[in-house]
Amino acid sequence: MIKHVFITGITSGIGRACIERAIKKGWVVSGCARRQEELDKIQERFGNDIVCTRADVCNEEELAQAVARGVEKFGPIRALIANAGRGVDGELLELDVDDIHAVFDTNVYGVHRSVLACKKYFAEKAAVVVVSSVAGYLSIPRMGAYCATKHALEAYVAALRMELRDKGIAVMSMCPGTVSTNFFEAAPKPGQVWDWRPGSNLTPAQVAKVIMRQAENRGPRRVVMPWFARMAAAAYRVFPGLGELIMRRALKKMRLKEKDIK
Ligand SMILES: NC(=O)c1ccc[n+]([C@@H]2O[C@H](COP(=O)([O-])OP(=O)(O)OC[C@H]3O[C@@H](n4cnc5c(N)ncnc54)[C@H](OP(=O)(O)O)[C@@H]3O)[C@@H](O)[C@H]2O)c1
Repeated sequence: MIKHVFITGITSGIGRACIERAIKKGWVVSGCARRQEELDKIQERFGNDIVCTRADVCNEEELAQAVARGVEKFGPIRALIANAGRGVDGELLELDVDDIHAVFDTNVYGVHRSVLACKKYFAEKAAVVVVSSVAGYLSIPRMGAYCATKHALEAYVAALRMELRDKGIAVMSMCPGTVSTNFFEAAPKPGQVWDWRPGSNLTPAQVAKVIMRQAENRGPRRVVMPWFARMAAAAYRVFPGLGELIMRRALKKMRLKEKDIK
């Protein structure tokens, strides 16, 4: 049977790396993102192994069309990688409801729209891998809205896993720490820059390798990587006061740095 994976957010970073990994491992890929020029380049690069369609995960009709085009060419979907996502920089009191709504629209409702769009096309024993984040386990100042979306996703994934189990569909999350991608440059407002980058970076290829392994093996249910992100998430749960103290110090430094720049 053809191994068909539908991936959202394929034009850069983790999604783009998932294409490479999937095709290397014998999958065929359909997927979407918004930048047509990048999609054209990817289509040309991977030829018959991929169907790229311009679609925004905030738009149900576009997503439905992207999924239908993939299914028309490759048949039922063996795996969905719900990867498209974005950040939002700023302390919570600097953000208005529209800023927060926009990031939920992509990161949370976008995942749900992707699952709905694939729903009637899942093959037997399909897999859904949602690209969440270690931010689904930590609350980081200046990333509060983003962290809220990823916390929401973790709850969503766990419930979906239970609900789809008797349909034979495995649901998992991938929770990376910092990955070297365009993510931090994709600022939500003109002139806004996300300049806080914790820890050392994973490469998109490292993350994609594990995601495609989850899709292939239909497990494990959650991966937090690398090891120090896993430790930080666990420590934060056991010692929340200490975690907040460390984060508050980091916030203080960021505020001082900003003051210097101004
Ligand atoms: N980088 C990190 O440190 C990090 C850490 C943990 C988790 N993550 C998660 O990893 C996922 C991928 O991010 P990345 O790091 O690979 O960043 P990235 O390089 O900015 O890639 C984001 C991808 O999502 C697509 N996208 C964004 N909004 C979209 C929308 N509304 N509709 C369709 N596609 C959309 C972008 O393409 P277009 O602009 O062409 O639409 C792009 O292909 C996100 O869910 C992010 O939260 C990232």
